[in-house]
Amino acid sequence: MTQPPAITTAHVACIMDGNGRWAKRRGLPRTEGHTAGEEALANVVRVAAKRDIGWLTVFGFSTENWVRPPSEVRHILGLHRKLFGRVEELNANNVRVNWIGRPFDEPGSRTPRAVQQAIAKAIEDTKHNTGMVLTVAFDYGSRVEITRAARRIATDRAPFDLASMTARLYDPSLPPVDLLIRTSGESRISNFLLWQAAAARVYFTDCSWPDFGAPQLDEALSLLTSRRA
Ligand code: IPE
Ligand code: IPE
Ligand code: MG
Repeated sequence: MTQPPAITTAHVACIMDGNGRWAKRRGLPRTEGHTAGEEALANVVRVAAKRDIGWLTVFGFSTENWVRPPSEVRHILGLHRKLFGRVEELNANNVRVNWIGRPFDEPGSRTPRAVQQAIAKAIEDTKHNTGMVLTVAFDYGSRVEITRAARRIATDRAPFDLASMTARLYDPSLPPVDLLIRTSGESRISNFLLWQAAAARVYFTDCSWPDFGAPQLDEALSLLTSRRA
């Protein structure tokens, strides 16, 4: 398979879905699916960095996911600590870590201290990297983000326009999403980057997230290069 040409500025976003079903098909507990999903993400980060994608934003945990069984939530939180702890390989790939989600000091935030610390440490330990920016959306929901931006415009007495809104999103430096990928057969956006992905190409695949790797990413990226050609 020929590799698509390098895309130096693309912003690719992934809704990493299907961990639970992947595990169920194998007769494994859902937690095993999440463990495999974290490994798939580490691999996708390596591949994406080699493809010279500028920005990779992944949906790690949504504001809606807290209602899952406590043991599953605990397991997913542990995997985020593992992910944010992969500093050595992130540095080896020149990847800068970033995070979006409900700010820890704001009402509604439920992110445990240990995860907060893991996020802060990963950001600090990778801040000098100049390659791809990996943004992990954790305790993230787009409607809460947009509502908060609107509220901040009101308190700042700023003009109610597109630029003011964009400047008040969790991370105003995130460029518009070029390609939004969702795995595992669901054709839903599930409250992810509603503002940032307004003009994105959307790629749905039946592939489960734990099975998503280099060939699947390249196929998704070809959608982007075909548009640019
Ligand atoms: C995605 O996989 C991971 C998270 C939402 C945290 P799921 O856990 O949603 O897997 P399915 O959709 O039940 O298969
Ligand atoms: C979206 O997946 C959230 C993440 C991938 C973290 P879900 O599995 O939670 O989404 P819905 O509930 O099927 O829309
Ligand atoms: Mg799901």
